[in-house]
Amino acid sequence: MTRGTRAIVVHADLGRRQRRDVSARLEEAKGLALAIGLDVCATSAFRVRQSRPATLFGSGQVEEIAALAVREQAELIVVDNNLTPVQQSNLEKNCAAKVIDRTGLILEIFGERAATAEGRLQVELAHLDYQAGRLVRSWTHLERQRGGFGFLGGPGETQIEADRRMIRDRMARIRRELEQVTRTRGLHRARRQRAPWPVIALAGYTNAGKSTLFNRLTGSAVVAQDMLFATLDPTMRQISLPGIDKAILSDTVGFVSDLPHQLVAAFRATLEEVLSADLILHVRDIAHPDSDAQKADVLDVLADLGAVAGEDDEAPADSAVPVLEVWNKVDLIDDPDHQAAIRNRAEHEPDVALVSALTGEGIEALRRRLSDILGKSHRRYEFDLNGREGAALAWLHAHGEVLSETAEADGGEVTIHVSVRMEPADYDRFARLHGDQAGLIA
Ligand code: GTP
Repeated sequence: MTRGTRAIVVHADLGRRQRRDVSARLEEAKGLALAIGLDVCATSAFRVRQSRPATLFGSGQVEEIAALAVREQAELIVVDNNLTPVQQSNLEKNCAAKVIDRTGLILEIFGERAATAEGRLQVELAHLDYQAGRLVRSWTHLERQRGGFGFLGGPGETQIEADRRMIRDRMARIRRELEQVTRTRGLHRARRQRAPWPVIALAGYTNAGKSTLFNRLTGSAVVAQDMLFATLDPTMRQISLPGIDKAILSDTVGFVSDLPHQLVAAFRATLEEVLSADLILHVRDIAHPDSDAQKADVLDVLADLGAVAGEDDEAPADSAVPVLEVWNKVDLIDDPDHQAAIRNRAEHEPDVALVSALTGEGIEALRRRLSDILGKSHRRYEFDLNGREGAALAWLHAHGEVLSETAEADGGEVTIHVSVRMEPADYDRFARLHGDQAGLIA
């Protein structure tokens, strides 16, 4: 598959996801195809009442798709659903064109966008996992076709065996490399945790405007394009907020509906940034017709990771990270009544900030909001420690961000003045361990 390949995009509307607008869904699938440089000549959605095990679509629909591909001279058919290997190969035969399904498409995009060593390894692993799944399934399928004549084992089987072994070996190698990379990243994270600047993680549906907001807040130029998945690996930048010396903003991968399970697993490490955050900014394209469904998708994945409590959970998880919803793209809502309604709703919802990352509307208010939220959890304390209290000093270095440290000698006594930013809970722990000897400054 090369850039500029002529392609048609088809979607089977299985009627299950009524909450999702079919044309918007088709538009998203087209966006995914454009994101890897395909030349999309036509898109079409089909209502499929009962998915067919052999072809997904009904036979009349398959003929229509084949005719569309011929008319558009398309070499590739993008099916915006997940196909079984059998469905994929039957559709290829019936339509005389290459077929790629949604998982395959997303894997291609991830493959193109992976920027760091870890990202590339994760994508390759996910890709191999996907391929291995296909081989295993088509292999059992072949076995069944042979009707139990196991001894026949033709060249096809040998080839598949060899392919499987190769894939397994390569996957094992990648896992080992990944372990190494993850360990290094873990060290970085541990280091950051020792100097606990608040970390804010951006999360959100693909194209919601995360990179644009990231740039607004940090003043840096991360790729922001009208291209899905412009962001793959987490990008971290320091931002300054009113009243807070330092905070870290981290941009994460965009979410899509039906995120292939191989990717959820493989990208866990990337999304784990979200787990160690002090606050998640859930960026939403509030002007999108499926904004609510997109929100549900993002929350599903976050709940899956354990970052937020899931819908079925009775109580919020201990590790749950607070979430502030950022309703972005308010400038795009054309209808004045709808615009007014959204503004009104945003004002009355407790954990919502309304912005336009593009025009800058609401950004200063968002900054103040962030300071308020983070300022509550991190405060500055001043300590006067006796020079002999090495353990207490070490504790502060380990659990807080030491802003300054000066020693003063008075006769034989050394006093160390330390200014530390840390959470009130840590201060309480310190006071229990080493005595209450600090004054709260801010
Ligand atoms: P992924 O990398 O796919 O996850 O996307 P993202 O969430 O990082 O989105 P990105 O910032 O790349 O923005 C996607 C598109 O939306 C770009 O064309 C932006 O210019 C546009 N955009 C972002 N915020 C706004 C906004 O507030 N208003 C308008 N009109 N467009 C916006």
